[in-house]
Amino acid sequence: MKKGKKLYEGKAKIIYATNDKNLVIQYFKDDATAFNNQKKSTIEGKGVLNNRISEHILSNLSQIGIKNHLVTRLNMREQVIKLVEIIPIEFIVRNIATGSITKRLGIEDGTVLKEPLIEYCLKDDKLGDPLIAEEHILAFDWASKKEIEKVKKMILRINDFMIGMFRGVGIKLIDFKLEFGRLKVNGKDEVILADEISPDTCRLWDSITDKKLDKDRFRKNLGDLIPAYTEVAKRLGILHEQSNVSAVNVTKLSSVKRK
Ligand code: TMP
Repeated sequence: MKKGKKLYEGKAKIIYATNDKNLVIQYFKDDATAFNNQKKSTIEGKGVLNNRISEHILSNLSQIGIKNHLVTRLNMREQVIKLVEIIPIEFIVRNIATGSITKRLGIEDGTVLKEPLIEYCLKDDKLGDPLIAEEHILAFDWASKKEIEKVKKMILRINDFMIGMFRGVGIKLIDFKLEFGRLKVNGKDEVILADEISPDTCRLWDSITDKKLDKDRFRKNLGDLIPAYTEVAKRLGILHEQSNVSAVNVTKLSSVKRK
């Protein structure tokens, strides 16, 4: 497969064309941003870890029938993915209240929600990804009623699966963000899971200590982001126990070929 020109550059990833019009390459950068790009940094090794963790989660999701864009991981920073038309909505799923919802609604941090809560944000950096209602999605044709219903069903299955997967390795899945895209299958649009699922897009707390193992380490200046992401990867069985946590070692480890 030949890598072609850059099609799109986001805050944490770059998309490149390939010689197959249906496939693109997703490159994971080391850039970290928060608060709609107001806080920025580069954290060596982050992209490598997110590539591996996201590959692991998306391939597990395909095994339970959740269709997604991942075709294969190419190397330590790149994946081949299906080209989709991204639905311009960030779907936020919350199991425990923390982050923006606590400030917005005055909910106590750590409140366990009776049921998973799905929130919608318009994917628009210039507007700061504003929170919207399902009615806005329909009013402005960002997605159809049928697509939203399908996405909601997928989200609840993804959430159940991921809660179990993380619980099994001593991690609480607090909340996360998903994106979906449209794929043409036999002339018809099908909605599939897209983007990435990683500690950049989830809140993950150690089950016993509540230690933060996600991008809040960057957002809240807690430090040690690479050791935290490495811990997540190790617990999921992606990296081996003997590996050290420095970015350099992460880089070395990640060049080891997949089984
Ligand atoms: P929030 O509490 O800041 O609204 O974030 C909720 C979840 O969504 C959290 O796991 C972080 C994730 N998220 C992203 O992945 N990208 C974003 O742009 C935002 C705002 C949140």
